[in-house]
Amino acid sequence: AKVLVMGVPMDLGQSRRGTDMGPSAMRYARLAETLQAIGHEVEDLGNLQVPVVESLQGGDRRERGGMVYVEAIREVCRRTAEAIRKLDPSVFPIVLGGDHSVALGSIAGLASFGPTGVVWVDAHADFNTPETSPSGNVHGMPLAALCGLGDQRLASLLGQGQPVLNPQNVVLVGVRSVDPGERETLKQAGVTVYTMKEVDRLGIARIAEDIMAKLAHLSRVHVSLDADVLDPEEAPGVGTPVPGGLSYREAHLLMELLADWGKVTSLDLVEVNPILDRRNRTAQLMVELAASLLGKRIL
Ligand code: ARG
Ligand code: MN
Ligand code: MN
Ligand code: MN
Repeated sequence: AKVLVMGVPMDLGQSRRGTDMGPSAMRYARLAETLQAIGHEVEDLGNLQVPVVESLQGGDRRERGGMVYVEAIREVCRRTAEAIRKLDPSVFPIVLGGDHSVALGSIAGLASFGPTGVVWVDAHADFNTPETSPSGNVHGMPLAALCGLGDQRLASLLGQGQPVLNPQNVVLVGVRSVDPGERETLKQAGVTVYTMKEVDRLGIARIAEDIMAKLAHLSRVHVSLDADVLDPEEAPGVGTPVPGGLSYREAHLLMELLADWGKVTSLDLVEVNPILDRRNRTAQLMVELAASLLGKRIL
């Protein structure tokens, strides 16, 4: 399929500078060339414009309904969604973050093509609401908002008045850090969660099979890949590292099995922070994982 790359250099959704350089780092790690080498046509649409944090007000969560920079993030995500919505539904979009708040935009846009399953691969659940968030950082809230929960400015980004995602069509993988209030929201919502405990006990191959069975009825499936799902030893270039993550091979095997399945239609690559990285290793790994998801085979 034709791959369309779009960068969203957002760092407003979390507290550490640097995720705005994620798109550059992944391009520098030869994203386009790597996908072309396995037979894809790649078109890069460039970056969306994102305001620089120093130019903004709104950094105090108490003035913003419990969310830091919510207006600016909402606007960027709305523009992301509009841009995605205009694409030919047969292309394979890759959205380069930016922090994970960009997935609000990418997924809201993609869901306009029809019911969409989501595989959210992350150390965190990103299922906070402004009430449960310990930080006020929007990158900890996007999955809840996509399921219709929390602040309606984020949940109803395109003014659609109904949740973007059905929680029954959402699967989380690799989770190992959930905030206390977030845990309750997550339990009630009915999303499927494979924590690192399940990864260790069942193995990632069995989890991949379960995901494919669970989402088999959908014709569109999106993978939202947060670099911090990987063990920090493998992927040090992230702002919210959590020990005990996916190994290099576990992450690749998940992507390879989803590729064999053939039903994944779009991808986010988020939370890469080159300032915290070692020689662009995390961006490099994200590019390799994208290639595995898009059909790169060992033999
Ligand atoms: N749960 C924490 C919070 O809400 C961390 C979220 C990290 N999210 C991420 N996309 N890396 O602040
Ligand atoms: Mn995340
Ligand atoms: Mn995360
Ligand atoms: Mn392990």
